Amino acid sequence: MVTIEICVGSACHLKGSYHVVNRLQEIVKVKSLENEVEIKAAFCLGRCTESVSVRVNDNKIHSVSPEQVDEFFEKEILSLLR
Ligand code: FES
Repeated sequence: MVTIEICVGSACHLKGSYHVVNRLQEIVKVKSLENEVEIKAAFCLGRCTESVSVRVNDNKIHSVSPEQVDEFFEKEILSLLR
C-alpha cells in the first residue's frame, strides 16, 4: 500500500492542492488501484514555498503542481507498486 498525503494548508491550497487531490483520485480510479494507493489530505508539511507539497509513505516530500500530477504518479508512485 502506498500512502500519498497532499498538503491542504493555505499556501498549498492557493497553489492548487484541491486539483492535485482530485487528479490523483481520478488516476487511481482509472487504473483500479484503490486497494493499493491511499490518498489523504495533510496539514502544512513545512515546505510552503515549494507547494503543492505531497508526502509519499510518510517519507519523502515532493513538490507537485496541478500540471505535474500525471508525471509525478508515473515516476514516483507506479515504481513503488511494481
Ligand atoms: S501549506 Fe503546504 S507545506 Fe505549508
